[in-house]
Formats: sequence, structure tokens, C-alpha cells
Amino acid sequence: MNKIAIIEEIHEEGLKLFDKNPNFSYEIIKDTSEDNLIKLLPNFNGCSLRVSKLTGKILSVCKDLKIISRHGVGYDNVDLDYIKKNNITLTITATANATAVSEHVMYMILVLSKAKLTYDNEVRTGAFKKNMKTIKTFELMDKEILIAGFGRIGKSLIKKCIGFDMRVKVYDPFLDEDTINKFGGIKANSIDDAVKSADFISIHMPLNDKTNNLINYDLIKKMKKNCIIINTARGGIINEADLNKSLDEKLIFGAGLDVFEKEPPDLDNLLLKNKKVIMSPHTSALTDECKVRMAKETVKNIIDFFENKLDKSVIVKL
Ligand SMILES: NC(=O)c1ccc[n+]([C@@H]2O[C@H](COP(=O)([O-])OP(=O)(O)OC[C@H]3O[C@@H](n4cnc5c(N)ncnc54)[C@H](O)[C@@H]3O)[C@@H](O)[C@H]2O)c1
Repeated sequence: MNKIAIIEEIHEEGLKLFDKNPNFSYEIIKDTSEDNLIKLLPNFNGCSLRVSKLTGKILSVCKDLKIISRHGVGYDNVDLDYIKKNNITLTITATANATAVSEHVMYMILVLSKAKLTYDNEVRTGAFKKNMKTIKTFELMDKEILIAGFGRIGKSLIKKCIGFDMRVKVYDPFLDEDTINKFGGIKANSIDDAVKSADFISIHMPLNDKTNNLINYDLIKKMKKNCIIINTARGGIINEADLNKSLDEKLIFGAGLDVFEKEPPDLDNLLLKNKKVIMSPHTSALTDECKVRMAKETVKNIIDFFENKLDKSVIVKL
């Protein structure tokens, strides 16, 4: 019997796959504090993982843990050095998230470009067309978007941008020009140059030592005054203090954030009071459809691992 820890609840459609399989039992762990995971996780052979942290300190006591199945695609919450050294397999829900996240990017772009929140408030408060002259709204047609990071989500997003008649530049140093051209994008060789002409920038790369703080005050200074930045990737890629300062100084027009340096952000985080920012609580992938897809893929990856039929494409190469 393989004992599986479900660290933070997942959709029941995923858990049903375990219910049908006599070789697996599972327990849901809701208290994801380091102390509780150190206490409970050593009893399990595998686990699913949402956004909680699996530190080296936790993992070092989990001698029977063979697989960590991420419910999602990012894995900056796992001690990668530890699992590499100790031969623990890490999987992602590779095909589940792209549509939900790329649709969320379009939603944020549209809300900001069309002054949705302000106009909605005007109607509700009887200020019908009162500020029509001062409120700026934009069309997407013929505007340039820079997609920074062109993996699963970037490739899903480009189709939507082309559908809106946008020009698309792609910054991804790991992809050649032909691949980007095939999707209808133009390769940008340097992010410093690419940001200068972008009306929109959407971030879709992993958080790591190279991308941490990539979007900082110096880079934002090069952007157009009407530029809107969307980050659905990971907090930390955009420096939040620099972003807030840049918005206050009108260096750029607005920002849409699904992810934060610290989650949840502290209530005194200045971005929370900044009217030029719209936010969501790291929920861009949490559509009803995607929750089911992610839960099923998360559980399937665990079952496939123990049944020796795991698809290599879902294993994180470390
Ligand atoms: N908000 C959410 O709920 C949510 C959901 C899913 C994914 N994500 C995040 O979105 C991001 C992208 O996910 P994905 O599934 O498209 O990943 P992916 O692995 O398919 O693609 C990432 C791309 O980034 C590129 N890249 C790596 N380093 C780069 C750099 N320094 N500069 C530019 N490009 C770089 C890679 O070459 C790759 O093409 C990840 O950070 C992931 O954690 C967030």
C-alpha cells in the first residue's frame, strides 16, 4: 500500500482516482506549517503539493518519500538541491494550467485598458460619464505586447494576443527565432531593448537566481509611459517597491499582479493601496475546469510513478 499525503486540499475529482485504486491510501494535511509537516510527512511514500514550502529540514526526515507531485507547474517552493541529492522525483501538471493563466492575463489587460473598475464604480455611484474626459482607455489592436518567457503559458497567450490584432515580441533566450516566428512572434534578443517599445509586458518565466528582481526600477525607466505590466508567473521577478515607485512617478500606466514577493502580501504593502494596480490572490490557474485538470494530473502522476509508467515529460529535470 502506498501512503500519499495530500498537502493542502485538491479537487475531489483527483482524489477519486485514488479511491478506485486499491494500492493507494491518502490523507489530507491542512496544517502545512514546517513543524506539522516534520511530524506527519515521514509516514508517507509520496505527496501532492500546492503552494506550501517543502524545505530541506522537512524533507530530511522523510526517508520514505519517493515522489513530490506538484499541483501546478512552478516548483520554487521545493528544496531542489535536497531532492536532487536524495533522488526524490518531482512532477508537474504540465498540460493543465496554460489556458487558465493566459485567459487571466487577457482579463487583466482588458480590465486595465478599459478602465473597467472605474467605469463600473461610476455607474454604481451615479457619476454616469462624469469623468469621461479624464479617464484613459486603450484598444489592443496594433499595440505591441512583450511576452517574457515563452513556454506553455506564453505559447497559449500569443494566440489570444494575435486574435486581438496585437504585435507580439517574445523574450526567451532559450528559444530560437524560428520557433518564435512559427507562433507568430518576433524574437527579442535583449529584454532591455524589448521593453522600450512594448505597450504591454507579460511575465511567464520561472523564478530563479537569474530572474529574481529582473523587472526593477532601472528597467522600468526604459518602458513607455502607457506600458501595462502583468505578472502571473512568480512574485520576486518584479521588484514590488520599484514597481510601486514607478507607478507613483507615472513611469508606466498600470500593473496586474496575480503573484507577490510574499504571499499573502503584508497589509502595509504599498501596492495594495495603489489604484493603478489590479490584483488576484495567486488564482489565475484556479478556474473550475483547471482545478479539476490539475487535481487529476497531480494524482495520475503519483499513480503512474508507483506503477512505473510515468510520462517523462512531466518529470522536472534537475
Ligand atoms: N499564477 C499561477 O497560478 C501560475 C500558474 C502556472 C504557472 N505559473 C508560473 O508561470 C511561469 C511560466 O509557466 P509555464 O508553464 O509557461 O513554464 P514553462 O517552463 O513552460 O516556460 C517557461 C519559459 O521561460 C523561459 N525562461 C527561463 N528563464 C528565462 C529568462 N531568464 N528569461 C526569459 N525566459 C526564460 C524558458 O525557456 C521557458 O520557455 C512559471 O513561473 C510558473 O511558476 C503561475
